[in-house]
Amino acid sequence: MRIGVLTSGGDAPGMNAVIRAVVRRGIYGGAEVVGVRRGYAGLINGELVPLDVSSVADIVHRGGTMLLTARSAAFMQPEGVAAAAAQAAGLGALVVIGGDGTLRGAQALEAAGVATVAVPATIDNDLSHTVRTIGFDTAVNTVMEAVDRIRDTATAHERTFVVEVMGRRRGFIALHAGLAVGAESILVPEEPVDLEAVCERLTRGYARGKRHSIIVVAEGAASGFEVAEAIERRTGHETRTTVLGHVQRGGSPTAYDRVLAARLGEAAVAHVLAGGRGAMMAFRGPDIAPVPYADVLDAEPPLDRRLSELAAVLAI
Ligand code: F6P
Repeated sequence: MRIGVLTSGGDAPGMNAVIRAVVRRGIYGGAEVVGVRRGYAGLINGELVPLDVSSVADIVHRGGTMLLTARSAAFMQPEGVAAAAAQAAGLGALVVIGGDGTLRGAQALEAAGVATVAVPATIDNDLSHTVRTIGFDTAVNTVMEAVDRIRDTATAHERTFVVEVMGRRRGFIALHAGLAVGAESILVPEEPVDLEAVCERLTRGYARGKRHSIIVVAEGAASGFEVAEAIERRTGHETRTTVLGHVQRGGSPTAYDRVLAARLGEAAVAHVLAGGRGAMMAFRGPDIAPVPYADVLDAEPPLDRRLSELAAVLAI
C-alpha cells in the first residue's frame, strides 16, 4: 500500500514525531510512504515527496512540521477538494495530522472517495472524544514557564499581570496553565466573564499582603488588554498585559507529546493497514480508538468543570 501523510492548519509541537511514527510504522508494515507538503494546499498542487526511514531521522524533538503546513482557502471550494482527490488517487490512504479544520478536510476527501485517517494535533486541545491532542501539553508548559518569569517581575513591582493565551474558542490552555501557575483568576470562553469577581479577589489578596497577581485570560474569552484596563480602572492597581501569542506554538515537544505522537501515529497506520478509514484516532487514556469524523465534529469538547472549581478554591 502507498500511504500519504500531511500536516494541516496551525502547527503543533509533536507533529514531526507523528510524521516519524507514520513513516516508520508504515515501512515496518510493508507500505510505501509519501509526504504531502503544505497540507491540503500542497495536495491540490501535487507536492508529493517520497519518505524513507532516514528522511524522518533527527526530527522527533523538533517543533513545527518538516512537511510544512497551511490553511488552504482553495481547499474550501468543491473544485479544490476535487483537485486534491485527483492527486490522492494513487494513494491507498492518507493520514492527516491537525485540528478540526483538518478533520473537516478529511471528511470532504472521504466524500470524494479518498481513504483517510486523522491524528489529532493542535495546541488548543479542542477536539471531542480525545482527552488530549498533540501539542497541548507542550503549549501548556510553555505558558507555565513564561508566567513563572512574569511572576518574578510582577512581584518585584507589586503589579497585577494579565496574561492572554491562545486556545481559539476554547479555554483548555488557559485552564490548565492557570492551574499550573496558581493564577488568581482564569477567564475561559466556556464560562461567563465576571470582572467584578476578579477585582474582588484581587483586592482581597492585596489586602492580606500579596505582592503580585496573575490573571490568565483565554483569547476566546476576552482581550487581555481590555481586561487589564478594566482591572486597573476598578481597583487602582498597576496592571500590565502580556499576550503570549505564537510563542505557544513553537519549541521542542514535551516527552508527553512525543509519546502520544508515537502512539497515535502508530495507531493511525495500523488502522489504515487493517482497512480502517474515515476516523480520528482518539486517545481515551490509556487506550486509543478510532472515532468517526462526524462524531468528533458534532460534539463539543468539554472543559473539565472540576478543574475550574479547583482553581477557584485554591485561589481563595
Ligand atoms: O489553532 C491553533 C491556534 O494557534 C489558535 O490557538 C489560534 O487562535 C490560531 O491558531 C492562530 O492562528 P494563526 O497562526 O493562523 O494566526
